[in-house]
Amino acid sequence: MNDTPQNFWDQRYQAEGYLFGREPNAFVKSQAHLFGPGQDVLSVADGEGRNGVFVARQGARVTSVDFSAAALEKARSLAGEFNVDVNFKQQDIFDWDGAAGAYDIVLAIFIQFAPPEKRTVLFNNIKRQVKPGGLVLIQGYRPEQISYKTGGPPQVENMYTSDLLRSAFSDFEIQHLEEHDSIVEEGSGHSGMSALIDMIAQRPQ
Ligand SMILES: C[S@@+](CC[C@H](N)C(=O)[O-])C[C@H]1O[C@@H](n2cnc3c(N)ncnc32)[C@H](O)[C@@H]1O
Repeated sequence: MNDTPQNFWDQRYQAEGYLFGREPNAFVKSQAHLFGPGQDVLSVADGEGRNGVFVARQGARVTSVDFSAAALEKARSLAGEFNVDVNFKQQDIFDWDGAAGAYDIVLAIFIQFAPPEKRTVLFNNIKRQVKPGGLVLIQGYRPEQISYKTGGPPQVENMYTSDLLRSAFSDFEIQHLEEHDSIVEEGSGHSGMSALIDMIAQRPQ
């Protein structure tokens, strides 16, 4: 039954295999040099764990949060295969009152389930949990993605533009902000030419 967002995602993750693949997201992989031992990293809505597990393989302590039990089961299995410890939490991100200033890096990869009013709550929650001097890494879709139909929700208002991210993170220092159209091959869930936007923003000291 798809009567709640949680059921919708559990259903999607019921299918065999990894909906978004077992390899990390290409943007996360391109930033592998940022992750290492001694760091605390939070991966928000981490799904089947491909990004959290990749970061843990670089030596960081990772907390991976998602509300789908089906996703977490696969994520735990992936962590087991790579023999890494990840702190998995089954949690609705909107109800999660994670510790303030706890993380060196927060990853938010394809978390466009939030409509504009909830996105503000979500971004504020993310920002609050970053240590002073820490980073937020975001990859999401731009409005042009709606016509590509190669992944992401159909709600154009959930998409990101450069202006939207600049405004939402105006209290952070934006180190990298890039709009690009690229071929994404990340499982059957994200497959084909895609309208993307990447951001790295630093919380001031
Ligand atoms: C498009 S998937 C991306 C998963 C992962 N970040 C990745 O790149 O592979 C979106 C994820 O958000 C999770 N999600 C949606 N709403 C959520 C919520 N309110 N709280 C926690 N997780 C949520 C879903 O279960 C799903 O795993």
